[in-house]
Amino acid sequence: MKYHQVVVVGAGLAGLRAAIECNRHNVKVAVLSKVHPLRSHSLAAQGGVNASLGNNLRGGQDSWEKHAFDTVKGSDYLADQDAVQRFTKEAPERIYEMDHWGCPFTRDGNGLIAQRPFGGAGFPRTCYAADLTGHVLLHSLYEKAVAYELNSERENFVFYDEYFASGLLVEDGKCQGVAAIRMDTGEIEAIRADAVIMATGGAGRLFGNTTNALISTAYGMAMPYWKGVALKDMEFVQFHPTSLFGTNILMTEGCRGEGGYLMNNKGDRFLANYSDSAKAMEVAPRDIVARNITRELLEGRGFGKDNGEYVHLDLRHLGKKKIMTRLPGIRDLSINFVEVGPIIEPIPVQPGTHYSMGGIDTDGDGRTEMPGLYAAGECGCVSVHGANRLGGNSLLETLVYGKISGESAAEDVIGGLASDAGDAEKAFEGEKEFIEQIRAMDGDELPADLRDELQEIMVSNVSVFREGKKLKQAHEKVQELRERYKNIKVRYKGARFNWDLIWAMQLKANLDVAEALVKGALDREECRGSHFRADFTSRDDEKWLKHTLAFFEDKGARMDSKEVTLGKWVPKERKY
Ligand code: FUM
Repeated sequence: MKYHQVVVVGAGLAGLRAAIECNRHNVKVAVLSKVHPLRSHSLAAQGGVNASLGNNLRGGQDSWEKHAFDTVKGSDYLADQDAVQRFTKEAPERIYEMDHWGCPFTRDGNGLIAQRPFGGAGFPRTCYAADLTGHVLLHSLYEKAVAYELNSERENFVFYDEYFASGLLVEDGKCQGVAAIRMDTGEIEAIRADAVIMATGGAGRLFGNTTNALISTAYGMAMPYWKGVALKDMEFVQFHPTSLFGTNILMTEGCRGEGGYLMNNKGDRFLANYSDSAKAMEVAPRDIVARNITRELLEGRGFGKDNGEYVHLDLRHLGKKKIMTRLPGIRDLSINFVEVGPIIEPIPVQPGTHYSMGGIDTDGDGRTEMPGLYAAGECGCVSVHGANRLGGNSLLETLVYGKISGESAAEDVIGGLASDAGDAEKAFEGEKEFIEQIRAMDGDELPADLRDELQEIMVSNVSVFREGKKLKQAHEKVQELRERYKNIKVRYKGARFNWDLIWAMQLKANLDVAEALVKGALDREECRGSHFRADFTSRDDEKWLKHTLAFFEDKGARMDSKEVTLGKWVPKERKY
């Protein structure tokens, strides 16, 4: 049985930052990922990362307090204010750290890190590297991690690339490591650890219209959920206003931050016609912009079949130089995927599922309720985003809470947290049996059909506009799919790179997590942030200023709730 003091599951930004922190505490760490680290979805983040550096304010001032307030207001007061304060206070340090580690941020004329406006702040707070911010952050962190790996004793910092973490090894309520499929050989291995940090990213692939990569399934959330850890606030899903029509590839908020317009088929910058976006226009918070685009589409003022498929993201007035230097990736993607050159034509865009505000319930230090288990980044829920995340706060969360969770795990291990080889052996037998049961499934249903049906119902019934009747239908449908899952066929039974098996396992996770998400959305009879209920058109603080908790049960999630940590910012009324 392999053993490391800490195992990090996921090698995107949060996972790498957590691992680096463990290594800096002289704790032996391994990073396990189903893809090569540089293929992690963090790579696809485009527009930037927030920090109150105040580099681009033309004489004004930014502060962590302002960043904190914008984050809390953006969250529709569901974020925990103590966590938000820590998050925004640490932001500048994490950005300068990345700068010193070689991250090539775009600079302004004075050589300072350039900042652009994103939704929520009303002025430039978002640091960026053209429209490749996730790309450069990930490469910089990976280089740092590899340097630590090379400079360490071999066993002090280890990468397990293309290992699919299949289950947590849990005995006596404590996490003792993970079971994983080594994908090139198909061997099932136990990797024992004193602490496990989940950093597996989001679950955009529950929906069929997502900006997320194929790898962004709910498996990393399901692993703790299946073992009794709560998922928190799962009903809050962010719909990015601008994803490319057809593929839903992200068209960064940076397009609008740089001055791009959203236009309808009347030639109007239609955000001016809605009271909640008339002032901030294209850089209003994402939930608002996504809803107002959807309204235009529902009323036929878009383009495409019956005018309801997409609106235009118009960058032409920005000019060739700005587009080529600030948004080169957007230009390439538009040309390659829809044959539109944004220097001369507007880009067809529609809202797309982008981000899970909810996730594995953790405290402000990244610890879950299960001893030995931690979570960071999108798969976790601290919570700093509440009901709606500000653009640019996701990359920041990976850096801040990657570090914090690594620190917590390392400190706990140094303080005596230890796994038990004997117990892990017993748990491992159960995990092997779980995999082999799925591999052996030989029924009539194809997993891909169930996946498509799940993604369709999530898009049609659990999207930007929600209502009780449609949510109920969605819940019934997900329950039907969970039932039909018992009769799936895994066609390829072999060992090496058995993606048939791995997709079937991920489908199980997607179904179970989708069920919790839909149940949360059905229960929450109010509008808050990204969760808009057409049948309950206001926020209801008396009843719903609380976090939702979902606990796994075979028949469907058992729901509970948890207090929101408030602070100096008192919830203000908001119109929907
Ligand atoms: O629009 C974007 O570039 C996405 C940023 C984010 O989700 O934070």
